[in-house]
Amino acid sequence: MVHTGAVEWAGYDDVDAREATRANRAWWDANAEEYLSEHGEFLGPADFRWCPEGLREADARLLGEVAGRRVLEVGAGAAQCSRWLVGEGAHVLAMDVSAGMLARARTLDAATGVRVPLVQADARALPLDDACVDVAFTAFGAIPFLPDADRVHAEVARVLRPGGRWVFAVVHPVRWAFPDDPTEEGLTATRSYFDRTPYVEVDAEGEPGYAEFHRTIGDHVREVVAAGLVLDDVVEPEWSPDNEHVWGGWGPVRGRYLPGTAIFRAHAPG
Ligand SMILES: C[S@@+](CC[C@H](N)C(=O)[O-])C[C@H]1O[C@@H](n2cnc3c(N)ncnc32)[C@H](O)[C@@H]1O
Repeated sequence: MVHTGAVEWAGYDDVDAREATRANRAWWDANAEEYLSEHGEFLGPADFRWCPEGLREADARLLGEVAGRRVLEVGAGAAQCSRWLVGEGAHVLAMDVSAGMLARARTLDAATGVRVPLVQADARALPLDDACVDVAFTAFGAIPFLPDADRVHAEVARVLRPGGRWVFAVVHPVRWAFPDDPTEEGLTATRSYFDRTPYVEVDAEGEPGYAEFHRTIGDHVREVVAAGLVLDDVVEPEWSPDNEHVWGGWGPVRGRYLPGTAIFRAHAPG
C-alpha cells in the first residue's frame, strides 16, 4: 500500500466501486506533492525503475526494442519512466487520471528539459484509436486502484497493434497476506492470500478516501487472458543486496524472504 497519511479508519472492507475510484482520483490529486517528496528521489526525474526492488528497464529490457516505437505509459504519475524512454528514442505518450500527478510531470519536464506528451484519462477508457500503440506499460499505475482492472486490460488490448507488448507491474499478490511492515513483524502472514476484500481508508465522514484492490496471481492471469492477450512471463524481481531503501512495507529485511513486486509481460496476438 502506498498511503501514509492520517485517516479516521483503515483496514479491509467492502467498498462501493464508484466511490472507490472517485476517492482514489481525489487522493492522487491531493497527495501528488507529498508522494513525490517521499519517493521522487528514489524514482529519479528521468529514470525507469520498475519497483522498489530497484529493477531498472535499462537492465531488464522488459519492453523490448523501444527506439522509434509508439509507447504508452498507463497511470504514469509524474512520467519518470516515459522521460527515460524519450532518451531511448521512443515516441512516448504518458497518461494518468490525476491532474495533480500530471502537474508534477510538468514540473519534472521543466527540471530535466525533457518534455513528455501527457494526456489526462481513465485507463479504462483510453482516448486512442484501435491498434495505434506498439508497447504499453505501467509501473504500479491504475490497476491496483481499480475494482474492475479487467477493463484496463481490454482497453490496452484494443489500442495495441497485433504483436504489441503490454507489461504491467503490481504489488506482488502474496504481500497481501502479510502486514504492510518493512521489519521482521512483516514476515508473519496474518491474512488469507485468497481474501479479496479491498484495503480501504475512511475519513471522518465515513467516506472512502483511498482504496486498493487485491488480485491473486491467478486473477491477474485470468484478466489478461480474458482480454485476448497472450501471457509471456511473470517476473518477480529479487531485492538487490545493495538496496537499503525502504518504501512503505518494502525493504531489505523482508526483501530477503518475500517477493514485493510481480511484473506481467503479455502481447497482443497476431
Ligand atoms: C504508484 S503511482 C504509479 C506512477 C509511477 N510509476 C510512480 O511510481 O510514481 C499510481 C498512479 O496511478 C494513477 N491512477 C490511479 N487510477 C487510475 C486510473 N483509473 N486511470 C489512470 N491512472 C490511474 C494515479 O493517479 C497515480 O499517478
